[in-house]
Amino acid sequence: MKVAIIGGTGYVGLITGLGLALHGHDIICMDTDTRKIAALNNRELPIYEDGLAELLKEATDRNKVFFTNCLQTAVNKSEIIMIAVGTPESTNGETDLSHLIQALKLVANLMDSYRTIVIKSTVPVGTCDLARTIIKDNLKNRFIPFDIVSNPEFLREGNAVRDFLNPDRIVIGVDNPESAVIMKELYQTFKVPIVLTDTRSAEMVKYACNAYLATRISFINEIAEISEKVNADIHAILESMKLDKRIGGLYLNPGPGFGGPCLTKDLKSLISFASKAKAELPLFKAVLERNEVQINNIIKFVISELKDIRGQKITVLGLSFKAGTNDTRNSPALHLLEKLIDPKIRIHVYDPVVKSIEEPLNSRVSFSKSIEEAVRNTDCLIVMTEWPEFKELDLETVYHLMRNPLIVDTRNIFPYNKALSLGFRYKGIGIGIGIACADNSNGTLKNII
Ligand code: UDX
Repeated sequence: MKVAIIGGTGYVGLITGLGLALHGHDIICMDTDTRKIAALNNRELPIYEDGLAELLKEATDRNKVFFTNCLQTAVNKSEIIMIAVGTPESTNGETDLSHLIQALKLVANLMDSYRTIVIKSTVPVGTCDLARTIIKDNLKNRFIPFDIVSNPEFLREGNAVRDFLNPDRIVIGVDNPESAVIMKELYQTFKVPIVLTDTRSAEMVKYACNAYLATRISFINEIAEISEKVNADIHAILESMKLDKRIGGLYLNPGPGFGGPCLTKDLKSLISFASKAKAELPLFKAVLERNEVQINNIIKFVISELKDIRGQKITVLGLSFKAGTNDTRNSPALHLLEKLIDPKIRIHVYDPVVKSIEEPLNSRVSFSKSIEEAVRNTDCLIVMTEWPEFKELDLETVYHLMRNPLIVDTRNIFPYNKALSLGFRYKGIGIGIGIACADNSNGTLKNII
């Protein structure tokens, strides 16, 4: 099938377009960003995603995708128009639909015959109804048939290519059987369940999933805080919880709180449009509050530890909002840096793929070329993301490189008993003082903070 992706150079649009190309469809990725379009036509990627380079090569080698700035070309040469433009958070927590509305108006002006218009972007419930009105109003009194479809995505950054090619399910919201047939044909080569529903329910699925995922993270971060206070070990707790099939073992890792461009934004949007529908959401408001508490607790701890540190060099490993991506949007690491910046403190940072961050932070930290350079003579090592190269660090080597053996491990990537036996002062997430009692033979009690 011939598919145009509007907003076709972003995380969602590009991966969706290339993934559909791999499934044999003829894809036109359209974007107003001429720099990114030129890069893609040069087979250069504007974003970092594992497996994306191979996907781009495969799709372009097969001549199944091309990139353009021209919306007229995209509309003329396609039967399905998938809109994957950004729907960022507005200042009041609502979703900014301006890019989507603009795209819909332009598409309506350019359409000359039937099109299936698919909304891939994450949008508040009821947006497909709005889209229907916008298209009708902008057809300039021409009668041109069209359908509006909701087709939310569930891509995780750092895993997005795999998530697109191997989805758990495909969700499609339609308001008539004809568009259902078209969408089933589009995804017929994906051997996964297709959930067919109405547009409002399909729009709501995305929020329900992300709200649940965010709740899981705030839940385990709260359990971790209690564990620290009652001298329990989050590792043992998690091991036991995960064996309960109703709870499961995925997506239950304590950390510095959830970051990234989606979870917080989607929760705020959900709370906002729910409030307009006269539904107050105390649970989801609490999930956001807990998330703020999580990073603030870590920041408070580090600042309190710094006052006791002789020198003033600290090291932050990991700047993106999680391992596997170079995206620093709403990154807990950047929230931490914003609070730590101080003329008396030399902050050295290292990230495998992030080589610069926004100002004024960028010029206030030193980017180290290697982990060793970042860690050498440091007084406090703070791990913010769980890259494999951080997990594989040899703690004994790290111990001898550091000036003051203090580790703040916000991802629990290091075995705390090994860190303690080497003589580190160690702070994890959810690791209570009492568990050192079991290992207190070598007097490590004082070193669990
Ligand atoms: C999320 C959803 O997973 C995805 O389905 C949706 O389409 C977009 O939003 P993403 O934000 O890319 O994806 O990454 P995700 O892997 O969900 O992580 C989000 C944040 O939660 C990160 O900061 C991550 O470090 C944190 N997290 C995740 C935890 O702290 N603990 C976990 O167990 C999992």
